[in-house]
Amino acid sequence: MTGESTIAKGRKPLLQNRLADAFDVTVRPTTDEAPLIATLASDLRSVITTPQELAVEDQPPMVSARLPALLDAMPASPFAEVLRPLARDLDWYQIFDASHTDPALAGGLMAGQVIGGRGKLHSQDLYLGLFLLAPHVTYPLHQHAALEIYHVLSGEIYIRHGREKLSKHIRAGDHSVTPPHQVHELRTGTEACLIAYVWTGDLVGENWWWEPQEDGSWDRVCWQRQPDSSWKVVRREPLSEAEVLRAGDA
Ligand SMILES: [Fe+2]
Repeated sequence: MTGESTIAKGRKPLLQNRLADAFDVTVRPTTDEAPLIATLASDLRSVITTPQELAVEDQPPMVSARLPALLDAMPASPFAEVLRPLARDLDWYQIFDASHTDPALAGGLMAGQVIGGRGKLHSQDLYLGLFLLAPHVTYPLHQHAALEIYHVLSGEIYIRHGREKLSKHIRAGDHSVTPPHQVHELRTGTEACLIAYVWTGDLVGENWWWEPQEDGSWDRVCWQRQPDSSWKVVRREPLSEAEVLRAGDA
């Protein structure tokens, strides 16, 4: 996190305590993941949040169409039971600006924050929310400085860490942790998927997509987080060998 000014012990909103308690008992780490999950759990418990009123308008049609069935099919868990009653009332939005990418992809990725700039609990230091992916969507290889966990609540997804790696199949109740800067890709199959995510650490607001070029080289393209939490493309650069090494791509 960014320092003592944003992480402190003390009285926290009831919802934050319930989320932190539920996260602790639901997300069971492997030995390798344990330090990263401990960081996520500790930041979730200690970050300073402020309740805020959301002016929620109509949900995007993709959310109204898919969320009810995903919630109906969602297996029970402590984390799922805290999130279930919130899901329909979040300020759902399309994550990526469709003018910079395939509209089918942009329209297939929706988020609703519980903690964050447009969450029920305001924070600029940690984000927790729901992520809804349409069927047959590939969120291409990308990397960011934040530490991230995806806990699948309903449906299933395939997550790949690195260009040559095999995808891991993550089913409801299971999770995937992505360390800072690790390049990763998400892909849905024939069904939609509902995920709970947590982002913490360096929320610098840049999300770099890796793109193969016609000459066989790779570029990385920078999406920058906007004040409304959506993303827009701001620049592009050749993918350097140093970045490949830092990204856990080998
Ligand atoms: Fe990510």
